[in-house]
Amino acid sequence: MIWVNKGRLLVFLVLPSLVFLLLLLQQLHSPSHCPGLTETSGPMHVLILSSWRSGSSFVGQVFSQHPDVFYLMEPAWHVWMTLSSGSAGQLQMAVRDLIRSVFLCDMTVFDAYMAQGLRKQSSLFMWETSRALCSPPACPLFKREDIITSAKCKILCGKQPFNLVGEACKSYSHVVLKEVRFFNLKTLQSLLTDPSLNLHIIHLVRDPRAVFRSRQNTKENLKYDNHIVMGSQWDKIKSEAQPYHLMKAICQSQQEIYEAAQLLPASLRERYLLIRYEDLVQDPLTHTSKLYEFVGLPFLPHLQIWVRNITQGKGMGGHAFDTNSRNAQNVAQAWRRSLPHDEVAQVQKICKDSMDLMGYLPVLSEKDQRNLSVNLLSTLEIP
Ligand SMILES: *[C@@H]1O[C@H](CO)[C@@H](O)[C@H](O)[C@H]1NC(C)=O
Ligand SMILES: *[C@@H]1O[C@H](CO)[C@@H](O)[C@H](O)[C@H]1NC(C)=O
Repeated sequence: MIWVNKGRLLVFLVLPSLVFLLLLLQQLHSPSHCPGLTETSGPMHVLILSSWRSGSSFVGQVFSQHPDVFYLMEPAWHVWMTLSSGSAGQLQMAVRDLIRSVFLCDMTVFDAYMAQGLRKQSSLFMWETSRALCSPPACPLFKREDIITSAKCKILCGKQPFNLVGEACKSYSHVVLKEVRFFNLKTLQSLLTDPSLNLHIIHLVRDPRAVFRSRQNTKENLKYDNHIVMGSQWDKIKSEAQPYHLMKAICQSQQEIYEAAQLLPASLRERYLLIRYEDLVQDPLTHTSKLYEFVGLPFLPHLQIWVRNITQGKGMGGHAFDTNSRNAQNVAQAWRRSLPHDEVAQVQKICKDSMDLMGYLPVLSEKDQRNLSVNLLSTLEIP
């Protein structure tokens, strides 16, 4: 009865080993092991789409500090600064094409926007906010897994040659770009359907009243940008009315992007995620976890500690474009104390439609504005 024994041998020894082997293989290829890479074999491309003073530096840092991410902040700044006589509408295709090239790690696109001659990493706008440009292969002085502040990086890694930017980019599974220089989704549609890209969009919005207040503190920084946003209209607007016209343009564009995203075909719709800055600062760990999950990145333990640190005021500091060190939740509400109520009322009027859509509730009196117990955020039903 040898064949019976062989059969038993098969059942008791060989089969379990096979099952084990299959499970092992499945584990190696499972979404939790290499998430972003399941649909296509190439890298994942993520655009953080936002507006000025809306917390996008913070969200940018959340990605930049991740050891699987190559991050650049505002590469399209170079387009706007070089072609500064154009309007946002005139420059949008140049911005789109630059973004596409950068996603593909083709940094020759900057040839059109940088001076000839010897280029360094530091020729790139805000290069030091990219942890990837502060660690190998771009700079040998830190480790990829380090949390690297821009101040330290700037001192130690600025002289590295420019060609390392592209080389570094190619060594990552995720390329993440942050841009405030898109004003509609239509411009981005061809990138969403581009077979050489795996584009995911994180649309970050913030309460227009907080944006308005924050913009008042950074007027000088935003001077050139304002001109481009408003185009030829700009000089015709009285200076005291300018901030309101800008807010109107910003609220309208944020609304348009959100509404256009709802109309995308299902396969593209799932590559769009809306997030409100206020939700993020209210519960940073939960929402950071969602952001990472959306693009298939693991929320590593040292990043969990770091996110808790920086949102509780133990972070980085100073400059208007740095991730803020103050208690993020306080910052989110600061407009309620410092803005005069008549200005708040005017912003609410101008931005009514987008506020309704994104769940920002108006304050109807100065008393409600100053009373921080009055909740101004309704739960957002994301379709
Ligand atoms: C978090 O903050 C503590 C206390 O300031 C500090 O010792 C630690 O290094 C920080 N960790 C990270 C990952 O930022
Ligand atoms: C502040 O708002 C809360 C919630 O609406 C209310 O219960 C409280 O009485 C208000 N405080 C003042 C001083 O008006």
